[in-house]
Amino acid sequence: MTRRLEVCESPAEAAGRACELIAEASPSTIALSGGSSPLPLYRLLQERGMLSGASIWMVDERCVPPDHEASNTRLLQEFFGDRVHRMRGEEPPHVAAGAYEEAIVALLGPEPVFDLMVLGMGNDGHTASLFPGSTELDERERIVIATDQPHAGFHRVTLTLPVLNRARSVLFFVTGESKAPAFAKIQDGELLPAGRVLGATWVIDRPVLSVPIATPRRRRWDPIEGQESLFELDG
Ligand code: 6PG
Repeated sequence: MTRRLEVCESPAEAAGRACELIAEASPSTIALSGGSSPLPLYRLLQERGMLSGASIWMVDERCVPPDHEASNTRLLQEFFGDRVHRMRGEEPPHVAAGAYEEAIVALLGPEPVFDLMVLGMGNDGHTASLFPGSTELDERERIVIATDQPHAGFHRVTLTLPVLNRARSVLFFVTGESKAPAFAKIQDGELLPAGRVLGATWVIDRPVLSVPIATPRRRRWDPIEGQESLFELDG
């Protein structure tokens, strides 16, 4: 499965493009990531009244109360209210993970297929709460798990890699120069967690491309029609 890449000139432009792709996908079920990058996207979705009929789920959560500043529940409910099926970060992580898995299975069955997954990428190449070298990356049975270690300060609850890859569409929304090193590594074929989600469309801004890749002649991405080819193709 190839990846598709859309390069925009600013986070605002990337948010606009991602909105168009989400409108095209017109998802009934969508899972949203936390973090700060997607804020312009979520603000635009809210302003345009998009996702009003969608079932909104979370990709991951930090194990903190919902009013904690690091809570993804707090972030997502700011834009989408209590329609968000929230992970209960205030509960013991394994309890929260089990409850969320039951809720997903009740709606989507034991092999859930979300219509759309909106993912981010950390500076280390993590996505969801699947971090480089973590045991959670190897989980192939469970739908939702709790991390066995804290990451970036918190224990977390996260969808697992098979669920991310099973989605009908995956959109990575990644902006900012800090993401460039991990992005270059993924283009070079390093299997960082975000590089293990295949068939995704990556909406990025240009600073994400600011680190040259070591093997520019290896085709890693299908530039979108009309976008300049960002890499020389295999000659
Ligand atoms: C989380 C997110 C996580 C996020 C990346 C990027 O809870 O942290 O779900 O996967 O997408 O950490 O975060 P930023 O957008 O803040 O860089």
